[in-house]
Amino acid sequence: MPVRGRAPANFAPAPGALTVVGCLGRQLLDDDFLSDPYPAYRRLRESAPVAWSEEFFGGAWLVSRHADVDMVLRDARFSAQRTGGWVMRGSEPRTELRGFQRLFARALIFLDAPDHARVRQVMASAFRPADLQRLVPRLTQAIADRLDAADPLAGFDFVSTLARPLPAQAIATLMGVDDEAVPGGFLEGSDELASFLGAIEPTREQALRAQTALLKMAARFETALQPRRQSLDKPGRDDVLDRLVRAERDGQIRGSAELLAQCVMLLFAGHETTRHLLANGLQILLRDPTAWRSLAEDRALLPAAVRELLRFDSPVQYTGRRVTTEMTLHGQTLRRGDLVVALIGSANRDPAQHERPDEFDISRRPAPSLAFGQGPHVCLGASLTLLEAQLVFSQLLDRWPQLELAGSSAAQRMGSPLYRGPLELLVRKPSATP
Ligand code: HEM
Repeated sequence: MPVRGRAPANFAPAPGALTVVGCLGRQLLDDDFLSDPYPAYRRLRESAPVAWSEEFFGGAWLVSRHADVDMVLRDARFSAQRTGGWVMRGSEPRTELRGFQRLFARALIFLDAPDHARVRQVMASAFRPADLQRLVPRLTQAIADRLDAADPLAGFDFVSTLARPLPAQAIATLMGVDDEAVPGGFLEGSDELASFLGAIEPTREQALRAQTALLKMAARFETALQPRRQSLDKPGRDDVLDRLVRAERDGQIRGSAELLAQCVMLLFAGHETTRHLLANGLQILLRDPTAWRSLAEDRALLPAAVRELLRFDSPVQYTGRRVTTEMTLHGQTLRRGDLVVALIGSANRDPAQHERPDEFDISRRPAPSLAFGQGPHVCLGASLTLLEAQLVFSQLLDRWPQLELAGSSAAQRMGSPLYRGPLELLVRKPSATP
């Protein structure tokens, strides 16, 4: 999940404060960092656990140790409201982005108590275990259909075949929107949104493109919601959109903008993240033939393997908070209004929490990771994600236990420090195998 914010107007580095550039001797966000951020995270954890970086959102504190990331995510002194920076750049307002900010600021992930608890209670009803269980046959069939259409001997791109479309299909089904019935689909424009949210300093053009996409998605939802408002008490249907509309009627969701914000965010959060777990996960597993063989022999290892994938190369590398009360952390003064980037990807490689953190080991006794966040905003879609990943890897192992990577091992990756995943992943089955 993304962070956004304005540079803290009140920031003045404390005498002797470590800045990222000062501490690491170079800019953090170069190509090496995008392909492998872990050495830089290690240096941060060891020598500047709270470091000021001008590179993130015009200025933010980077927090890199497990204990500190955990604290930032749980502690109410760190606010989740951080969308103001989309409209304000320093003292300069970007008024043309107000529509965007007005809508997205109401999304669950950017709310604080008490509004957060009120909306979260409604949203949590989307992920009841019984609803997820009902999804299993449809997901299993959808995976089978997509793999049937692939040609493993010629090789195929796992991202476009499965990793990208499946999570979108899963969340659309759960929400009760049939993406294919809508011209352009609900997800049209989702790439623009992802590249905006995944950029640390988005350009005005990126922001405007993302706003257009977001408002278009919202308009599609508005059209889908109208008939439901009129037929709410009709028996037979009880999907997520119905539950949201009922909550709007009962006053638990306040107004149409709040309702639309949840719809758009859920759809986006439901597919942009899981796709990276699937694609990145398969790449890591196929690079580790021992792990892949172990899974082929014993499916009971899969749940722990998926959790290890989430820890080892977290699909969401960071999230953000805004400081509400001045405090000192590792000698640095964090002032009210400052933006904090909680580096989940770094916390999950912290040796203070995980033994041999840089080893991918599906048999490790896992210590809880922060891949799904922590505290009040902990991911609502975690069970759905784990379900999807297990169904996908399980079918791949059943069909093609000899699957291997095809093409360059340096697959082109998302050019974003926020999301970890390849844009394309070519895989194939060697011709001599069953
Ligand atoms: C690999 C898959 C996923 C990862 C790594 C992931 C990660 C995260 C993280 C780190 C947060 C916390 C953000 C914060 O504290 O600022 C979060 C929150 C959230 N996630 Fe996920 N997520 C995944 C999949 C999903 C899916 C499939 C859905 C929905 C279908 C979803 C819906 C949400 C929602 C609604 C929140 C906000 C919860 C709140 O603010 O109370 N996520 N996710």
